[in-house]
Amino acid sequence: MTGPGPDPRAPSVRRMRWWDVEALLPLEDALFAHEAWSAETFWAELAQSGPSGQRDYLVLEGLKGPEGLDGYAGVSVAGGVADVMTVAVAPTRQGQGLGRLLVQQLVALAEGRGAARMMLEVRADNAAAQRVYHGVGFERIAVRRDYYRTPDGPADAWVMQLRLASTGDRDER
Ligand SMILES: CC(C)(COP(=O)(O)OP(=O)(O)OC[C@H]1O[C@@H](n2cnc3c(N)ncnc32)[C@H](O)[C@@H]1OP(=O)(O)O)[C@@H](O)C(=O)NCCC(=O)NCCS
Repeated sequence: MTGPGPDPRAPSVRRMRWWDVEALLPLEDALFAHEAWSAETFWAELAQSGPSGQRDYLVLEGLKGPEGLDGYAGVSVAGGVADVMTVAVAPTRQGQGLGRLLVQQLVALAEGRGAARMMLEVRADNAAAQRVYHGVGFERIAVRRDYYRTPDGPADAWVMQLRLASTGDRDER
């Protein structure tokens, strides 16, 4: 397993707050380009987080301090099914186990909300993300043809699933 790398400071994961959104937008634009979420989308997502909501968003504190985030991730849970909403790691911090760490934390949060399974879609050509998800235990269960619209034309999606330890019989919150 890839560790957090040679940096002596352990990665610090905490809940995303609304004031993190401005700091993460440059990273969002750099990583997701035409699919990047706006600040309004993040705020709408965060409005649904918290104990009584259906979303959990995390950030990875940057090594440069609070003004720079090294990554973030989010999950939605409804009806016993969790959906990975986003996972992002800054290019300078990729390949150090941080993506895996974020996904593992999302799994724990989904289990905490009583989800029985966790789903996601990932571009068929996104080998890095697929590797991270495989490493956490996700399996490909379907391929959705032309699911994504990209500047280079349509792109397929893999649908991946992870069965969780919880039963999923908790009421939808
Ligand atoms: C996908 C992403 C989150 C991975 O984050 P990361 O911190 O680099 O991933 P990790 O260091 O935890 O790597 C976990 C595994 O994936 C592998 N991996 C990471 N980047 C890879 C790459 N570019 N090519 C191949 N494998 C890669 C690692 O080697 C490691 O494999 P191992 O389990 O065999 O050791 C990151 O590349 C990213 O932010 N990409 C852009 C946004 C994105 O595509 N998000 C996912 C949308 S579904």
